[in-house]
This record gives sequence, structure tokens and C-alpha cells, in this order.
Amino acid sequence: MERDMAVRPVGLRTADASGQGTTAFRRPSLSWRLAATRPEVIQQAYEVQVAPTARFEGDAISSGRIECRSPLSAPWPADKLESRDVAWCRVRVWTDHGLTEWSDPLRLEGALYQQSDWLARPISPVSNIGRVDPVAVPLVRRSFVVSQPVASARLYVTALGLHDSCINGIPVSDALFDPGWTAYDSRLLYACHDVTALLTPGENVLSSAIGDGWWRGNLTWTMKRAVYGDATALLAQLEITYIDGSRETVASDEHWCGSTGSLLAADIYNGSEIDLTREQSGWRKPGFDASDWQAVHALALPEGLEQRSLPPVREVQSFDAGFAINARGGVSIDCGQNLTGYLRLTLRVSAPASVTVHHAEVLEQDGSLHSAALREAKATDIYHLPTGLFTVSPNFTYHGFRFAEVTLDEGVELERVEVCVVSTDLAEIGHFRCSDARLNQLDSNIRWSQRGNFLALPTDCPQRDERLGWTGDIQVFAPTACANFDSRAFLSSWLIDLAIEQAPDGQVPSTVPNVIHGHPYEFGGIGWGDAATLVPWALYEAYGDAGVLARQFQSMRKWVDWGVSRLSPERLWLGDFHLGDWLDPGAPPNKPEEATTDRDFIASAYLAHSANRLAASARVLGEEALAAHYLALSSRIAAATWEHWRESLVKTQAGCAIALVFGIVPFEHAQETGKSLAALVEESGGRIATGFLGTPAVLPALTMTGQHEAAYRLLLNVQAPGWLYQVLNGATTMWERWDAILPDGSINRGEMAADDAASMISFNHYAYGCVGAWLYRTLAGIAPCCDVAGYQLIEFAPQPGGGIDWAEAGIKTPLGVASIHWHLTADRLTVQLVVPPAAKAKFVAPAGWILLEGEPQPLGSGTHRLELVASANLR
Ligand code: BGC
Repeated sequence: MERDMAVRPVGLRTADASGQGTTAFRRPSLSWRLAATRPEVIQQAYEVQVAPTARFEGDAISSGRIECRSPLSAPWPADKLESRDVAWCRVRVWTDHGLTEWSDPLRLEGALYQQSDWLARPISPVSNIGRVDPVAVPLVRRSFVVSQPVASARLYVTALGLHDSCINGIPVSDALFDPGWTAYDSRLLYACHDVTALLTPGENVLSSAIGDGWWRGNLTWTMKRAVYGDATALLAQLEITYIDGSRETVASDEHWCGSTGSLLAADIYNGSEIDLTREQSGWRKPGFDASDWQAVHALALPEGLEQRSLPPVREVQSFDAGFAINARGGVSIDCGQNLTGYLRLTLRVSAPASVTVHHAEVLEQDGSLHSAALREAKATDIYHLPTGLFTVSPNFTYHGFRFAEVTLDEGVELERVEVCVVSTDLAEIGHFRCSDARLNQLDSNIRWSQRGNFLALPTDCPQRDERLGWTGDIQVFAPTACANFDSRAFLSSWLIDLAIEQAPDGQVPSTVPNVIHGHPYEFGGIGWGDAATLVPWALYEAYGDAGVLARQFQSMRKWVDWGVSRLSPERLWLGDFHLGDWLDPGAPPNKPEEATTDRDFIASAYLAHSANRLAASARVLGEEALAAHYLALSSRIAAATWEHWRESLVKTQAGCAIALVFGIVPFEHAQETGKSLAALVEESGGRIATGFLGTPAVLPALTMTGQHEAAYRLLLNVQAPGWLYQVLNGATTMWERWDAILPDGSINRGEMAADDAASMISFNHYAYGCVGAWLYRTLAGIAPCCDVAGYQLIEFAPQPGGGIDWAEAGIKTPLGVASIHWHLTADRLTVQLVVPPAAKAKFVAPAGWILLEGEPQPLGSGTHRLELVASANLR
């Protein structure tokens, strides 16, 4: 058999991106990349083996040769994993040149898949049960003896609340905010840590502080407490395997004891209060006298325990910030960047003293903190310190801020300020740069807003009394998110909660998890509910994982069927409440839902689009009859929508844009609708006039109808409303309102009509960052092609313009790095493309340019250099 020594499968992985040694999935699908020293690599077939040891002896199970060109999501060929099972797997592939070597083996270990695997029970100190009002953070500990040499030890751990577990005083991991926020009543994630190295012979101590977090802390602008329960608790199961093969389990149960210590308060919105004079020194270590600690109660095992498959929240970056005494006698800090996280302070205390830290995203004109935007969230950290030198940071809380003010009692000296950025630790896979520095700043703002709001779940904002999983925001941002950071495991996990929270009639709550029951916005309708269909589609498109479509398919159908059940006999969706083109700059500022584009039109158009994506998903899953059904439905709704609104939709930017991008406009009317849109852009002096739902469509609509000049005019406009208006007014993250800072330099007060949310003015909201997808796909010119998703077929279709003379973008696709770099001179356009092994690409020359030498299409893997000349020069 011929061998292909120039290609090797590498990076074998499952869909569990948590970084833990155990896998969340019982039948994990497998993906790999092909490392190649030659171009034009095509995978023709593969073989996967699974075996109990890395030797792959006679007991290995083989998939046999599977004819398949995709290295993504190969099905598990063996029996499903049982809890704690160890399996090794490896892959080899057949290319067009022959058979490769085997990949390096990948070790998999089963997590705890059955509720009956849990001997542990959630435990809470007695005095911590039945408490709704804030209490000091409970501590729990258990000492145990390790009597023999340890072969391995696993800690399976979660909390009703948040936990920071340690063994012998050493954190079991650097994860923060575990277990994250899911639809807790049905689904609670646990983590599994390899803690072998933390155990020592003799006495050991497992300990935890248990924060209120999302379980019992304040949630929403009504500062609702104890949404999930009035007791917080730790659920921990430490399984030790000794060298002689025997096993011992230390589980959370009534043998533990509880107390409180230095952490007087901790709340996600409000901040934390730490009194180091109350620290019970050594409580996390062996030898501590806990005889006066109180008993703990064991609570019922929660439903739906599932291992976390997404990466944890971590401190992803830290840097020092300068500080200066201000006129108010406090210390002012400017991090130079709006962000999500907290400050770590080093303080020298010569007499017992208190220190208070307030945070804000912007400053008032007099230099004081603008705290009004935080609404009810106190976002304040307080420390009470004895004498000595301390480095302190808050627990179980985070803030959205750029500025802070520290108030120090007499006798305290601030020595160092470290800025800690927190986020779910997703790999940054996308890169964009061009010759216009303002656009590079816009790109940076988008990334910072994604980082700051991808914190355990996709949130609207990180600073005020919300930080909720608003579905509409992520619906519009998902394509950009998926290109910037590897968001597959993160959003896939959140979509499971979306399906859980979906109402039996198919409606999707506006926030997932749903914590605004009974609020008029609980079901925000179109655009928000479409997260059910469009976020799975965005994941499929970017990562080529049909598994997410399979998992979400019923939820997607339920959402579309709900919309269909609301249709009038003419197949229009009329008269229901929708948040609509939220925050359209033409809407009354205090009534963001009263946008200038008819909500009924948007509802009908969105439904046609979601039905279309559902049909495409059905096709991917081999459900041909359903695909045909939803496609026909989508066409009928689109036709009815066009008939009904064809005259009015051209009156607004959002109307034209949504109608074009969602295929409402019949082919023969597309050009004239594009012209109408360009005329509207011209009329507005290049200013954007769209809200959350129109914004993602407006540039793509101009591009698809050849209105490139208008697209660049809109992108590069520096007046409010516009993307660069924010940049030129000092934004370092995306603002919620186009004009969060008004043209006169004052802060928009963000008045709202609704009594329960008096103002709404966040400086860190990613929704308008949805323009990032256009920067990748059109300005730089790299896009996934959903005919063969996951960048297995790449579309390079750059459209230079706006005076930009070079641009580049690279994406670490599931197959490897794909990139484009183009450079424009007076009469030449030079393009360099990189196509990863096993992928193909098509290149579409920009309007007005012609390829000098035709390259064969599609392009195979490797590097390609293309030269184009302006067609005008050829004449
Ligand atoms: C959130 C938004 C959200 C909207 C819908 C706001 O308070 O911050 O981003 O989508 O409400 O009502």
C-alpha cells in the first residue's frame, strides 16, 4: 500500500473543550487536522481505533476504512464510555497519495455519567440554610487521611452557588466562577480535576468557600435574590486510587463542618467585602482546630449533573495600572481599557484600616466616576485590614470598568495596582488588520466586548444589574464571535440551556437562563427567539459540527413552528409584541422597541429566514422531507412578506437590509432595492439608521447588491450614529447605544420609559460588534462556505474600498490556519491566500478587478499568490 509520508493527522480531539482529563461525552465524536509538507492535500478516507491501552493491541476496536473527506466530527466507533472508563484512540487517513502514519494517541477518561455515581451530597452549614438576605460567605472543610501511596486522584466538584475549592490550601484549579450559570433547575455542570499531585501522606484537607453567585445572589434590575434556592452548598467527590488498586472516596456529607471567615459578603453585581481580621488562619490546611465549627446539612442531589464541556472562566490577562491622588482625596485609576474583571491591590497598612474600591466605565466631566449606568449594582469592593503588607482582590464578583476610585483610610499606602481581566478562556482564533487604524481599533473594541461578555454564558453587558444571557444580542453577534474566538463549546453548552428554557409552545425567552418570568419582555419575539435557529447555524457554519444541529434540531423546529402558528391566513406575522429593531437611533430614546422599521415586517422576514436555515439544517441531518417542508414554508412566507411590504420596506435602512439578506426581495428586484438602500445611506450623510436587528444586515445587503461605495461610506462614517463615531469618541469596547457619549461630549443618560429600568447605557455591549463578520468576510475577504461548513470550503471574496490599501485576516479553522492578505497599488491588487490541508477554496475577484493569470478553481491546500489588474486599465 502506498504511504503518504508528507501528511500526518495531528490535534486529535473531542468536542469537549474544557481542558479536563475526563470527557463530558459518552460517545465523543473525533476531529483532527492534517499537518502537511506538501500542497493540495485531500483526505479520502480515515480509520479510527479505540483501545483500552495506548498499545492498541488485539483488543482495539476499529472503525475500518471510512470513505470521508472531512476530518471533522467522525462518529465514535466503539461502545459508549462508562463512568471512569479509560480509552485511547488514534486515527490515520488515506490521502490521494496513500496512507498516513497513525496520529499520536489521545487518552480519554469517562466522567461521572450517572446520578448514581454520586455518593456525595450538596452540603451547607446549618446557619446558611433558609437565608435570602446576604450572609457572610460560608466555609466548609473536611480533613481525611491518605494512608498509602496514591496512583491517581480525581475531584468531581460543583456548587449550588460558586466555589473555590482547595486541597491543603492549594487551589484545585485556576477556574473562576465554577460551575457557571446554567438552567440550574434542570442542569448543573461539574468540573473534574486531577488532584493527584496535591495529596500528601497523612492528614489532608479539602476546603471550599461557597459564594452566592447566580444561585442565591442578586439577579436582574429588580435585584431579585435566591432565584434558585435559599441555601448555597458544595457538592464534592474526591476519588483516590491507591497504587495497590484500592479506592477511597471522600464525599461531601455530614462528616464535614462549616463556619464563616473573612469573606463578609460577595455578590456578582455588588462586589465583595473582605475583613482580614476575621480570617481563621490555617483553616484550609491540616492541623487546624475546627472543633468549634458547626455541623453541615446534606441536601438532595440536584437534577441533571453534567460535566462542563466548555473552558472555565479564568484570569486571562493582567497588567499594572498607574494611579494618582485626586482632588477628592481618593486614588484614581485608569486602566486605559474598558474591561471585565477586578483590581488586585498591594497595600501597606500601618494601622488597622479600610479600603474601598468603586468602579465605572466612564468618567463624568468633572473627573468623578459615572456610576449611574450601573443602576442598582454597587460594583464596590471593600477590605478591612490589620497592619502589614497585603495583596488583595475580591471574590466571587466581577466588574465592568475602565476607571476606579480607591478610598484609603489613614495609615494605608497603595503600592501596586494590578488589573485582572476575566473571561471564559476561549482560544483566540481570528485575526484582522488593515491599513486604517480606526478600523483596527473597532476590531479591538469588538474583541474586548466579546471577552468581557463571554463569561460563563453570553451576556449583554458586564457592569450593571443585568449581565444576562439576552438571546437577541448573541443571535446577531454569533458569526463574529465564532471567527474571533473558538466559541463552539461555549455556545453549544448555552444552547442546551436555551432548549431547556424554551416554553412548551416553542417561544424562546429573551434571557437564557430565564430569570425575568412575568416581565413584559420575557418573550422578546423575533430576533431574540431566533437565537434558537441562528446560533446553532452560526456554529455549524464556522466549525462544521453537525452535532450541534442534531442536538438543537427539535428546539429549532419548535421555534419556527411557533412563528408559523402565529401567521395570518395571508402568511404574515402580525400584531404580536417584539423587541424589534431595538435601539434603532430613530426610535424614541426611552422606547427602544418603537423602531422605525415595522415590527410585523421584521417578524415575517425573520421567520422566513429561520425557516430557511431550519430547512438547511434538516438537509445536513439527512431529513429530506422536513427540509422540503420548511423550504417551501420559507418561500411562501418570503413571498407574502414581499407582497405586503414591498413599498414600505424600502423606506428604512433596516427594511431594505433585512429584506435583501433574508431573501425576501425577489431576484429581479434585488438591484433596485440595493439602490434604494444606498440612497438612504446617502440621504443620512453616511450615518447608520439601524438597531440590533438591522445592523448585522446592512453592510452585507450593500455588498450583495454591488453598492460597495455606500458600504464603505457607512462603515467609515465618523458621525453619530456610526461605528467610527464610537471609536473617535474614545470607545475601547462596543457601546450599547450608538451615541452613549453625545456629540457635545456629555454622557447619554439613557432614559428608559419602563419604570423598572430607569436608564440603559452600557459601554460594553457586543451587539453592534456584529460588523466584525463583515470585516472578515468582505473587507479582508475570508468566509466559511456553508455548502461544506467549517471552512472546509473557504470563500475568499475581498472587496477593497474606502481608501484602504491593505488588509489581512487569518482564522485558525478546525482544519488549520486559513488566511488572506491583500495589497492594493495604483493598478494592481496582490492577494496571498493560505488554504489548510483537506480544505478547498474559491476566490471571487472583487468588482472591477480581473485575475491576471487564472488559477484553477477551486484552490487546493497550500499558499497561493494572485495578481489582479483593474478592469478599467485593460480597456
Ligand atoms: C439589554 C439588551 C437586551 C434588551 C432587550 C437590555 O436591557 O441590555 O441588550 O437585548 O434589554 O430588552
